[in-house]
Amino acid sequence: MMALRGDHTLLLALIWTTCSSFTLGTDGLKARIRVKRESGTFLSFKGRMLDNLKLVHASDSQTIYAGGPDGLYMLKPGKHSTLKKVDVPIFDPECPSTGCGYKISLLKEGRNGNPLFMCGTKEKTTKCCDVNSAHSAIDCFDLVNPTQITQPSLHIGDSLYYTVSTENHNQPGLYRSVKGKFTWPPLRTTEQRYIKILGNQSEPLDGKVYSFYTEQNQNQDQDMPLRIPRVSQICTADRGGSKSVLQYRWTSMLTARLFCGDEKKGLTYTELLDVAVLEAANWESTIIYGLFKNAYNLRAVCVYKMSDIINVFASNNIKDQTETFSSPSPGECVENSQTLSPSLLKFMEKHPEMSQWIKPAQAPLLFMHHHYTHLQVDRVESRTSENSHHDVLFMALENGNVHKILEQNNEPFIITEYEPFNNRTHITSLLLDRATKKLFVSSISEVIQIDLSNCSVYGNDCDSCVMARDPYCGWDLKCSANKGIQDVMNGSHTICQNDPQTSMSRTDGRKDSVIRVSQDSKYFLKCPMESQHASYSWDHQGRTRTCVSTDQDCLLLIDSMSQSDAGVYRCIASENGYERTIVRQELQMNAASETRATSSILAVACILALISVIC
Ligand SMILES: *[C@@H]1O[C@H](CO)[C@@H](O)[C@H](O)[C@H]1NC(C)=O
Ligand SMILES: *[C@@H]1O[C@H](CO)[C@@H](O)[C@H](O)[C@H]1NC(C)=O
Ligand SMILES: *[C@@H]1O[C@H](CO)[C@@H](O)[C@H](O)[C@H]1NC(C)=O
Ligand SMILES: *[C@@H]1O[C@H](CO)[C@@H](O)[C@H](O)[C@H]1NC(C)=O
Repeated sequence: MMALRGDHTLLLALIWTTCSSFTLGTDGLKARIRVKRESGTFLSFKGRMLDNLKLVHASDSQTIYAGGPDGLYMLKPGKHSTLKKVDVPIFDPECPSTGCGYKISLLKEGRNGNPLFMCGTKEKTTKCCDVNSAHSAIDCFDLVNPTQITQPSLHIGDSLYYTVSTENHNQPGLYRSVKGKFTWPPLRTTEQRYIKILGNQSEPLDGKVYSFYTEQNQNQDQDMPLRIPRVSQICTADRGGSKSVLQYRWTSMLTARLFCGDEKKGLTYTELLDVAVLEAANWESTIIYGLFKNAYNLRAVCVYKMSDIINVFASNNIKDQTETFSSPSPGECVENSQTLSPSLLKFMEKHPEMSQWIKPAQAPLLFMHHHYTHLQVDRVESRTSENSHHDVLFMALENGNVHKILEQNNEPFIITEYEPFNNRTHITSLLLDRATKKLFVSSISEVIQIDLSNCSVYGNDCDSCVMARDPYCGWDLKCSANKGIQDVMNGSHTICQNDPQTSMSRTDGRKDSVIRVSQDSKYFLKCPMESQHASYSWDHQGRTRTCVSTDQDCLLLIDSMSQSDAGVYRCIASENGYERTIVRQELQMNAASETRATSSILAVACILALISVIC
């Protein structure tokens, strides 16, 4: 297919993979397809280096903001856009961001028609403002004690719910600021790390806010995990306690342990790393995905139903409860919490924990080989039938790559590994735009846009498109985001036989390309290994020939061309019980002994000898 031309990258890859294949072994949980930066699938936006960049979607537009403590950038996605620096003078008009010593401490999507909401902290002051489309700060207010706030936060009406994690040396917990009034968390000395806040805006008395966090375990028992994931619930109607008990602090806060693992097998994953939410029209049908890590640094994803969380808190079953309260019961939302009885308030101060755990709706998805750091989830309408959908997870890896994962029958199927960055890097934020099906990924100096419904990465035949099992794609004359032939469940390309175009190209019979190789010369045949789930081999006149695998290709090396090497070669991929011919090639021998060996071919021979020495 291609004469050896001393391609050094190829040779190095050859050495590397030949050597490493002996030590690493095969990993059945690899991504099926790798999409590299060179493929031209990604858009890259560069800026100045910024630490802890976080991506936020502006409300009501496609604009993305990327902000860290030291600055803010704006991005209007498009082929020729760049990250544009934005100055929002919060403290003084003369003080642009990053000037005058202030740091951005909170960044979230805006409200009341404004694209953005942000807080800036300078010494002991934190000021929060809506940011309008001209990037002016409006309706600012101060947050007092504490000022070092952390990211998870939520607006409900005029209220800002925000969290403080222990790393900031303040009282950790959930806080609320509304029109200059504050509600504080109960006094606790344990470490807490907040991951997510969720809530719903129902009738004033019904509203609840749920926080997801990891808390240091107070139980010093050696067998107990160091940290425990939890969910807390408060009523939005909570106005704090009486003058003597829980004044300005939550009176309705209940907490429950969030369990991820397998009780029968004694598996528990106790550190919550990220939470992604699939919101449903009906709040109780909301689904929550949690990414966890265990003491062995392995990852698991557990899926919870909002209705299960609501039920645990509604069970009225509080841990170590000795007193009973009829009405209101602990955690029940009331119109004026300041008038709750002192005994109930004292009880709430000491006993917020439910005895029941919040358990996942199904067995966890376990990952042995990939150290994921961030999680996003999308629900994709089926390309083939109405009223059905597939849930797809996006998870960031420690090396800067992102996996697109289909979750099915409790088995993760890694559809694609996107490799958006040139170099190994740390992903700081993942942001999914469900409306446009774009995923934004940030590193310290770059924001990358991944087009999730660019199906051309799966090649241009029906078989490849269907075997990809990508719910965003279907076969409709080409592999595209249109409705078409697809088999997400089984990835069985046999359904392509129904496609008139495909069966036509099959009967058409691809003409073998004929290559003439001189007698006694070296030659190699190359077959691209698109799928990391398939095994590839060459067939020569019915005889199977194993190949030498490089990073991307299955090579068949012919040491010295002879008449017995002539004939038709087929590269066969077998995957998931299906066999497919990827390449067909006919070799014919040139009897005339015109020597084609060049010095580079000799170099290859040397290097191949070297491999056998090193490995
Ligand atoms: C889709 O990806 C291909 C390469 O895989 C690239 O050439 C093409 O430009 C992309 N299309 C869009 C619309 O981004
Ligand atoms: C909010 O939650 C309450 C209690 O769970 C529920 O009754 C109400 O319907 C929810 N509101 C919305 C808008 O989903
Ligand atoms: C990647 O790393 C190489 C070598 O360390 C460096 O020269 C190059 O600039 C880096 N590229 C990017 C995009 O950071
Ligand atoms: C997928 O496979 C299952 C069992 O192997 C079978 O019941 C089902 O019909 C298949 N689905 C499709 C769309 O072929």
